[in-house]
Amino acid sequence: MHTEGVPAAMQDGRVFADRLNYVYGTDCMNILAKLPCESVDLVIADPPYYRMKGGFDFVFHSEEEYLEWCSLWAAECCRVLKSTGAFYCWGSCLMIDKLSVLVLDRLDWIKRNLIVWNYKTGRPAKASYRNETELLWFYSKALHTLNIDEVRVAYSKGGEKDKRKNPKGKSCGNVWEFSRIMPNYKEWTGHPTQKPEKLAERILLASSKPGDLVLIPFAGSGTEIEACIRTGRNWLAAEKEEQYIQDFILPRIQSFT
Ligand SMILES: C[S@@+](CC[C@H](N)C(=O)[O-])C[C@H]1O[C@@H](n2cnc3c(N)ncnc32)[C@H](O)[C@@H]1O
Repeated sequence: MHTEGVPAAMQDGRVFADRLNYVYGTDCMNILAKLPCESVDLVIADPPYYRMKGGFDFVFHSEEEYLEWCSLWAAECCRVLKSTGAFYCWGSCLMIDKLSVLVLDRLDWIKRNLIVWNYKTGRPAKASYRNETELLWFYSKALHTLNIDEVRVAYSKGGEKDKRKNPKGKSCGNVWEFSRIMPNYKEWTGHPTQKPEKLAERILLASSKPGDLVLIPFAGSGTEIEACIRTGRNWLAAEKEEQYIQDFILPRIQSFT
């Protein structure tokens, strides 16, 4: 293995070639540390939520520890993002406000929207309303533009007949309707926090163009990777759990090659 000039943190048994369209089985900080400033067009971050779902969610001992960890990788994402770039970050309703105020707002980018993924289903609870959404922060650097025409949505029934309306559809709002991935869906992998591919595709179409470089620090089951391949984006991904890479991500990638 060639380790000359490679920081000690990266010498964990793998060769860190600067490969494009590649998933690295390592901590995303190792990949981020290798990327030059302002080299990435779009980051889609779906980090552990903090004590919600999946073993990877329960490795943090306190909220402070979780938020400190988020500060490290988020600062790196901000550093590697181009002045035209965009950053999307998932979070849970219990933590996403703190993540925004205590971590993301402190970095050199602009808060744009809190996007609500409305999946309409969810378990009833006794002391709270049925949770049928997940939340996604959208930040961007100053020169980012959204490809509004790429992500227009249908007008509500009847509205499309109004001649003043855009024939391509209504501009996309911040409430996104996609169903959750169920075990009987073709794209279902079994990963505990898999996101819908169509949702990832909307992010890519809105905030990048073919050939752009997309960074996926928490690849999970490979949803964002698959969406990048489908839409012709270049990508770099990290996933700490080798098993997820073997069981979910590689089969998804291989289905294209
Ligand atoms: C919320 S899931 C991502 C799900 C993904 N969006 C999908 O649709 O499949 C977060 C993933 O990050 C991985 N992970 C946790 N800490 C990590 C780290 N420091 N570096 C890279 N991956 C990490 C976990 O193993 C988990 O698979």
